Formats: sequence, C-alpha cells, structure tokens
Amino acid sequence: MITKLFRNASVFTPQDAGKPKAGADQGRIRIYERGALLCRNGRLAALGSEEEVLKGLSWDDVDLEVDLEGRCVIPGFVDPHTHLCFAETREREFSLRLQGVEYLEILRRGGGILSTVRSVRTTDEEALFRATRDRAFAAMRFGTTTMEIKSGYGLETATELKMLRVIRRIGRETPLDVVPTFMGAHAVPEEYRDRSDAYVDGILHEMLPAVVRQGMARFCDVFCEKGVFSIEQSRRILTAARQAGLGAKIHADEMHDVGGAGLAAEMGAVSAEHLLAASEKNLRAMAESGTIAVLLPATAYSLRKPFARGRTMIDLGVPVALATDANPGSSYTESMPFVFGLAVLMMGLSVEEALSAATLNAAYAVGMADRVGSLDVGKQADFLVLEAETPAGIAYHAGANPVVAVYKKGERVFGHAP
Ligand code: NIG
Ligand code: FE
Repeated sequence: MITKLFRNASVFTPQDAGKPKAGADQGRIRIYERGALLCRNGRLAALGSEEEVLKGLSWDDVDLEVDLEGRCVIPGFVDPHTHLCFAETREREFSLRLQGVEYLEILRRGGGILSTVRSVRTTDEEALFRATRDRAFAAMRFGTTTMEIKSGYGLETATELKMLRVIRRIGRETPLDVVPTFMGAHAVPEEYRDRSDAYVDGILHEMLPAVVRQGMARFCDVFCEKGVFSIEQSRRILTAARQAGLGAKIHADEMHDVGGAGLAAEMGAVSAEHLLAASEKNLRAMAESGTIAVLLPATAYSLRKPFARGRTMIDLGVPVALATDANPGSSYTESMPFVFGLAVLMMGLSVEEALSAATLNAAYAVGMADRVGSLDVGKQADFLVLEAETPAGIAYHAGANPVVAVYKKGERVFGHAP
C-alpha cells in the first residue's frame, strides 16, 4: 500500500452529491484554504483542512509527503466531447472559412468532415494511433485527466472499428481514462450522397451491431442538423443504440434550431451538446429531464458564431458541462483552460460554475462520476496543481497554461512538484 500526503494546498472542488449540479447548486464548491489530500493506492483516502487530515494520521504510514507551498489544487479536467482521433489537420479549410465560406457549405462541397473521412480511411492504424496519442498528451498537459473520444471519421464499418481500436489504445497506453463513443452518424458519406436513409439503415443493420458485438463503445452520438441527420433519423439510431446498451448523446442545434435539444429531453439522453441555436422551450424540457448541456465555446469562437446561452441554461436549471470539441474543423484545440476562460468571459458562467462544469458535470456526461470529476474520498486521486491562487486564474491568465502539475491516480504524470 502506497500512501502519499499532499499538504499546504489551496483546494477548490465541487462535492459529488450523487447527481449532476444544476441551478444555484452548480456554483457551490468546497474550499480548503490550507488543505491536505491523502492518497492511498491512487485513491483519495482523506481530504480536508490540514489540521483535520493530519489528526489521527500516523507518520509511519506516509510513504511520501509533498508540500504544495500554498498552490491551488482542483480536480483533473474531464473533457466530455472530443473528436481527437484523426490524421490530417484542415488548415486550408480554416483559411477558406476566414474568407467567409460557411462551415456547412464546405461540408456540402465534399470538404469538412468528409475530407477528414478520406484521410482517416487511408491512414494506417499505427499512424492514426500516434497522431491521436500526441494530441492526448497535449490535452493532458493542459490538465485533462479523463476524456471522451468519438469515432465518426470512418463512416463505414471497417474504419469506424479501426478508430474505436485506436481510441481504446489511447486509454491503455496513456495515463488518461478514455470513454469511447460511436458516431457513425457524423455525416452522410459521399457514396451515400442523397441517400441518407439508406446510410442510416446501414448503421442500424451493420455498423452499430458490429461495434456493440465487439464492446467498442459506451455511448452513441448523432449529428442532428439541417442537411445532415434529421430528428427522425436521429431518433431511430439512438433508440437502437439504447436498446443495444449504449448511452445516447446528440450534437444538437449547433447551427440551426432543428429540435435536437427537445429530442434529447424526450429520449432522456445523457447529454445534448453544442446547443448554440436551441430554443428556450427545449432548454426547459432539458432541465425537466435532467439532460446535461455539454457546451463547447471554443467551437463558437472558431466558427465566429454567438456563444451558447450558458448563463440562461444554468438559470433555467439545466446542468451544464464544458468540453473542447477538439477536432480539425470547427474547434482545433485540446485546451480545457481555454474553454474555461471562454465560458467565464463570454458565456457568463461564474468561476465556480465553470469549475463544476469542467469536472463533475463533465464526468456525469460520460458516465464516469463514480470514479472521477471531484475530490471526494473514494474517487481516483486525479488532480491539478495550478500556478494560480484560485481557479479564477485559469480565465485570468488568458492563452497561458495554468497547469504546473497533473496527478493521475496519485501519480505525477506531467509537470513538477513545487
Ligand atoms: O462537433 N458538428 C459536427 N462535428 C464536429 C466537427 C467535426 C469536424 O469538422 O471535423 C463538431 O463541431
Ligand atoms: Fe463535436
């Protein structure tokens, strides 16, 4: 048994009360000004003021003692929405967008997601793994300790499975916990142009059963959007996915209000993501059903769209989580601190609300809250040491990396002790 004591830390963490934080509760966090964490075999054995934790502790039991010199400690970030598994970037398309060509117009012309599909289909598995692993380590240096990764650049069974194998390897060969999501319904592939119903049939009868049979995914996601997959098609896919034991997620109302948020609420989906154009009526339905809003402000930033109404959502009682959406098209960033800053400065979340959103609520959005997302006794000792005095420093020091050290299951996996 290995026991480590981290003392003289300024600890900020949401407290897990068994459900995602919503409404006024989203902004309530615990603070220990002069706090300590005790880790046993990678799990939190005690957390509190230094006095409390030290009381009753026998020094013979402690294998390692780290003085954090008063630095701020928060739970590791959970990034609950990424498309991290891809081969080539799309910088030329970015330049087109800067000239005013719309994201969905590029997709209609066979670019966008479809150009990443072409390169992922032809990249061999090892090269795809290496490219994804490099990005996973970049995310970890920015404080991400758990991340969801979606497939969806294959759009045919063999390549979707290749992506899901790569995603599984990221979880096995990096310190990160990885949650795999099947997203065969990310776009209609070129060979099914104007035959999207036939493609949906293929997902239902071939792709989804293969993914489930091999146990490769925990969630299923659909890009429910004008010109991509309709509400009816999304409902068919997610109903089948749920019957097969996967959790349901929806890319909902990213560009147009097609009612994706309402569908998520109706189906009792775990989360609806993006929501830039979601109607207030459907947001109320989400509050009612407890569906988590996964907000991706770096996407609005990169697409130069108005931000999702995070403040309104919290006021309506919708539990809000934050994610990067890391992908080569609409949001090329692995940085949760960047997303945190945008949420506070551009969406009107308080620092405390953003902290709950980027940790505990994000963990609920990917079904990992029993293990990660908050510094609660019994959970994994996944935490960050920041250069900042408080979590406000994450937004304050814009564009910088506030992470001094990353601890995963009690082990330092990046950075240095003070
Ligand atoms: O979440 N909207 C669909 N999917 C991604 C973008 C993927 C890409 O452009 O490669 C998103 O924005
Ligand atoms: Fe996305």
